[in-house]
Amino acid sequence: MTTGMTSPQTSLEEQLTTLQETAIAAIATASDLDSLEQLRVNYLGKKGQVSKVLGGMGKLAPEDRPRIGTLANTVKDTLQAQLDERKASLQSAQIEAQLSAETLDVTMPGVYRPQGHIHPINSIIDQITEIFVGLGYTVAGGPEIETDYYNFEALNFLPDHPARDMQDTLYLPNGDLMRTHTSNVQIRYMKEHEPPCRVLATGRCYRRDTVDATHAAVFHQIEFFAVDKGITFTDLRGTIRAFIDELFGEIPIRFRPSFFPFTEPSAEVDVEWNGRWLEVLGCGMIDPNVLAAVGYDPDVYSGFAAGLGVERLAMVQHEIDDIRRLYSSDLRFLRQF
Ligand code: DAH
Repeated sequence: MTTGMTSPQTSLEEQLTTLQETAIAAIATASDLDSLEQLRVNYLGKKGQVSKVLGGMGKLAPEDRPRIGTLANTVKDTLQAQLDERKASLQSAQIEAQLSAETLDVTMPGVYRPQGHIHPINSIIDQITEIFVGLGYTVAGGPEIETDYYNFEALNFLPDHPARDMQDTLYLPNGDLMRTHTSNVQIRYMKEHEPPCRVLATGRCYRRDTVDATHAAVFHQIEFFAVDKGITFTDLRGTIRAFIDELFGEIPIRFRPSFFPFTEPSAEVDVEWNGRWLEVLGCGMIDPNVLAAVGYDPDVYSGFAAGLGVERLAMVQHEIDDIRRLYSSDLRFLRQF
């Protein structure tokens, strides 16, 4: 042909080649995944530029069509490969950016969170519990709302014992009461278990005391008792000596005769502390009436029991002058321990 006109076949070839060049340049500079996807649609989509060029195939001479078709497929494959490659590198760049943005700088100063510590009451309970667990004792518990039976009657309190007075005990409308001591655990435990037993119990107790420097209406006691064949007052003495040694070191102690309805004989123990005798616990041999009340044969078994006021011990241990300080939640006080 000598018309000088560009043949449709040449034009298509050129168009495809130009298209490929501009597309490759555009893909190489696409700055993010969204614009890359737009490029893909623009060039390779159903209504994209490559399809448009191929729309002109109908005007080609039949013998030219396979060559142009092959070229078009090569362009498509090339562009797709470029798109895939660019996509992969954009994706990894994105991950890199995310990773470096989220990097934890371990050299930054930390955030200070104020930390509390164990209250002196709980701390002394923990120490004493550890001592008795070391001596082979089992930890037991009982309810704070108690019946007259477990708090008084089974512990050999006579019906008119002054401890049962409304002045001392907090009664509930139904006749139950707030336990006045942890000795209720003796009855509850022994009723459930056969001898021999060695038991430690700690918990809150309640009394209608007027609050002053040495009295609180709510306070804590620790009770321990042991029952077996042939237990004597010597075992009680040795146990208390070992316990005081552990808690305070080897300071002088003395036993003073005393009275409790649930022990016979009974004693109170003082420790010498800063040149004074301070009472720390009550104790004695479990009264045969108590053993009988829980179904233990007093002719076969004997035992000892003791109860101590936790607040009093904490006051001795830390030289605290007023029981109320233990409950005031005054940080200036609490931070000393
Ligand atoms: N329960 C007594 C009280 O609250 C303390 C006590 C004394 C407990 C002698 C005992 C004991 O187990 O043997 O004052």
